[in-house]
Amino acid sequence: MNRDELVAAARAAALNSYSPYSRFRVGAVVVGENGEVFTGANVENAAYPSSNCGEATAINTAVAAGVRKLDTIAVACIDAADVSGAYPCGRCRQIMSEFGVDTIIVAGDEGSEIREHTLDELLPHRFTF
Ligand code: THU
Repeated sequence: MNRDELVAAARAAALNSYSPYSRFRVGAVVVGENGEVFTGANVENAAYPSSNCGEATAINTAVAAGVRKLDTIAVACIDAADVSGAYPCGRCRQIMSEFGVDTIIVAGDEGSEIREHTLDELLPHRFTF
C-alpha cells in the first residue's frame, strides 16, 4: 500500500473506534516486514486508564498474529482539528520502538495535511533493553 492508501485505511479503521468518553476517534494501520497489514482503533473504557490507543491496538494485533518486525504505521485521528493534533502519544511511540517501526505517517481526517516521520525524530534517545 502506498502512503495515501495507508492513510485511507487508517481513516476507515477509525470508524470502528469505541470512544464514547473522549469522542476522539483514532485509527491505525501497521505494515510488517513481509508486507502483512493490521488495523486497529482506540477502545475506551469507563475506567479511563483501561483504555487502549489505536496504534497500540494495531501493533498488538500484529504481534499476536506472530509478526515481530514492523516497518510502517499510519495513524489517523479523524476528529483532530488538524494534523498537529494527530500525533501518537509517548506510550505508543515506545510500543512502536519495541517492534522496530521506522516510518510513522500522521494524518487527520479527509483533506488534512499528511506528514511522515522516522521514529528517531519522534522518539530520540529511546529506552531499549
Ligand atoms: N489516543 C490514541 O488512540 N492514540 C494516541 O496516540 C493518543 C490518544 C486515544 C486515547 C483516547 O481514546 C483518545 O484518543 C483521547 O485521548
